[in-house]
This record gives sequence, structure tokens and C-alpha cells, in this order.
Amino acid sequence: MTDKPPIKVVFSPETIQRRVRELAEQISADFAGQEPIMLGVLKGCFIFLSDLVRQVDFPLEVDFVRLASYGSSDTSSGRVQMVKAPELPIKGRPVVVVEDIIDTGVTLKWLVEYLQSMGPSSVHLCVLVDKAERREVEVEVDYVGFKVPGGFLVGYGLDFDEQYRFLPGIYELTHQGAGK
Ligand code: IMP
Ligand code: MG
Repeated sequence: MTDKPPIKVVFSPETIQRRVRELAEQISADFAGQEPIMLGVLKGCFIFLSDLVRQVDFPLEVDFVRLASYGSSDTSSGRVQMVKAPELPIKGRPVVVVEDIIDTGVTLKWLVEYLQSMGPSSVHLCVLVDKAERREVEVEVDYVGFKVPGGFLVGYGLDFDEQYRFLPGIYELTHQGAGK
């Protein structure tokens, strides 16, 4: 053990709750009367999606996808695969994709193209954390919780090798090998 903790707080639980409420208000205003499908990207979305949908004030449906991207544990390589497809029929429906974090953009770009091929009436992206400076492919993100320059973040659903997802805030892993 080192004497320094390997994580530092980036966004406290209170800060996250405030921001999620604002995002929910924005989405509520934009999608009133549309009954969108809120489509979470597993596993990282599980806490964000739960907090978000409980604060949106219109009827909606919830579904999930799970994607695999091949690379090391903390980077995506560009090869994405659908491990669990949406179960609800998407044709003609507005879809709001809910994702924990966007980094290079490869994963969400791939997902948007996949969803578009199913004929939704619209696809919007809602991402809690945006590492905008690290983008490698162009993706339009409609709702962004927080922008960060980089660093490897964990907590509030975000993991490093399946660790730390349960933490109530968002933290930066500062130990060696924790990523970019
Ligand atoms: P992208 O395809 O490079 O945009 O990568 C997106 C995916 O990489 C996310 O859905 C996460 O699973 C993972 N990822 C990227 N940065 C982080 C991070 O800082 N913490 C945890 N997971 C991350
Ligand atoms: Mg993810």
C-alpha cells in the first residue's frame, strides 16, 4: 500500500445529482409528448440512467444495449460489436442513448449508425462525461453532463477492470497504468 489514495474526487455525489436534475429538465422539455426510448449502454450507464429517468417527467420506455469493443481494458480499439441488441422495436420511435462517458467517440459513432439502420424517428445522445479533447471521430452529443480534458475516471457506474462502479461520486484514478 502507498500512503496516498489512488483516487481523487472529480465530481461529488451532490454535484452529479444537481447536474443530472438539469439534464432531466432539458430532456423533459425537449421530448414532452414523444414517449422516447431511453436506451442505456451497459454496464456503465446503470446508475446514471436510473437517476435520470426518475427525474424526467413524461412517459418513456427503458431498454439496454451491451457493446464489446476490443482493445485493452481502458481504451477502445475501434472494433465494436453488439453483444446485447435492443429488445423494443425502434422503428419510428425517438431514441435517447444514455452512456456514461465518451472518449474517442468510436463506440457511440458505431452505435448511432447501428440504430439509424433500424429506422428510428430520431436518435439523440446523452452522455454524463465528455472527454471532448480526445475525440478521434466526429459524433454529435446532444446532452453532456460534464466536460473533462482527460484522466481515467471511475465511480457512478464507471469502472476500471470492473472495479469502482459502485462509488457514489466520480473520481480520477491516479495510480500508474490507470490510463490516459
Ligand atoms: P470511446 O469509444 O473511446 O468513446 O470509449 C467509450 C468507452 O470507453 C466508454 O463507454 C467506457 O466504457 C470506456 N471509457 C473511456 N474512458 C473511460 C474512463 O475514463 N473511465 C471508464 N471508462 C472509460
Ligand atoms: Mg461504456
